Amino acid sequence: MKRIILLGATGSIGRSACDVVRAHPREFKVVALAVRHSLAAAESLGREFGARVYSGEDGALRAVEENEADVALVATVGLSGLRPTMAAIRKGMDVALATKEVLVAAGAPVMQAAKSAGVSVLPVDSEHSAIFQCLQGLDAMEDVSRLILTASGGPFLDGPERLDGITPEQALAHPSWKMGPKVTVDSATMMNKGFEMLEARWLFDVPVERIDVVVHPESVVHSLVEFRDGATLAQLSPPDMRVPIQYALSWPRRLPAERKPLDLPSLAALTFRAPDETRFPALRLVRDTARSGGAHAAVLSAADEVAVNRFLAGDIRFTDIVRLAADVVDGTPAADGGSVEAVLEADRAAREVARAWRR
Ligand SMILES: NC(=O)c1ccc[n+]([C@@H]2O[C@H](COP(=O)([O-])OP(=O)(O)OC[C@H]3O[C@@H](n4cnc5c(N)ncnc54)[C@H](OP(=O)(O)O)[C@@H]3O)[C@@H](O)[C@H]2O)c1
Repeated sequence: MKRIILLGATGSIGRSACDVVRAHPREFKVVALAVRHSLAAAESLGREFGARVYSGEDGALRAVEENEADVALVATVGLSGLRPTMAAIRKGMDVALATKEVLVAAGAPVMQAAKSAGVSVLPVDSEHSAIFQCLQGLDAMEDVSRLILTASGGPFLDGPERLDGITPEQALAHPSWKMGPKVTVDSATMMNKGFEMLEARWLFDVPVERIDVVVHPESVVHSLVEFRDGATLAQLSPPDMRVPIQYALSWPRRLPAERKPLDLPSLAALTFRAPDETRFPALRLVRDTARSGGAHAAVLSAADEVAVNRFLAGDIRFTDIVRLAADVVDGTPAADGGSVEAVLEADRAAREVARAWRR
């Protein structure tokens, strides 16, 4: 039986993870869970699973520090996942990572710490889980020529042409996934896909130049790996986060599930197209940021988080999100991003600039 610490238990990923645990009571045991504010819901889950409950800004960290487990499932929002992730690694736990911002901002120190501790960082994001599944049994990463991340394209794939009048309600209406507000808005700007490029870069140790994005509105092919012999492998499943969450928890095994598998004849078509980087400049911004290296990715991640919150509060326009993030990155001198402290400092400074940003 695997003991699990569940961080972000009341969120979209957290609730799906609870479903996976309920379906496999002999395989998984939640020993502790953490939320930020939703204490009543968390206590109810605590009673159901016989787990200890933590809340508040440092609740996730305490949940990891005060409990023993085999795996920590990190599904909070933004950089709040960083310290708990590092603490779990230090304690020798595998990390099932949903909170992509942890790797976007602090990929170098997190992956270095995991390597030193001999623990695995297992992807929960459906795209990275797909790549991870395609790579099982592979001897050497040099056989891989390209990683191809699929993107649903978000709610504005086919219009409107001008995006500056988009409201928070429109941006929060994702066509294929029901997720928390931050990641939903990031999907609408495609910043989410940019962050996933960085996440893949660290998880699979592949340079960003060999990670491509293809728009696939049906969200059935979750990502692909192209090999040097010309073969390409893909992972397909219905768009249901319980599939990658369960795999991250059960890996290296696969467990049964009562979910319906894909019904291929009922799928009218699977379509693919190149992303429109003029309407969605976030992808280019992320590639440029990755090239400049150091703490710039942490700056980008922090600026984006502030920008999304300002957009949701009605303070800036939809198109200002990427503009704000780009301005904050451009205005920040390159700095070292190799330690958690350096990342946290870059994050703090970037947030301050992002809060003060004016068009
Ligand atoms: N949702 C998806 O399908 C999906 C897919 C791929 C990746 N992800 C990634 O997974 C992460 C979680 O996404 P989500 O959609 O599940 O978010 P969400 O629905 O907004 O849920 C966030 C959860 O984290 C908790 N939380 C937030 N800040 C915290 C803190 N400082 N300490 C402890 N707990 C905290 C929240 O608690 P309260 O309820 O108390 O606020 C809530 O339980 C994000 O990084 C996202 O990018 C999500």
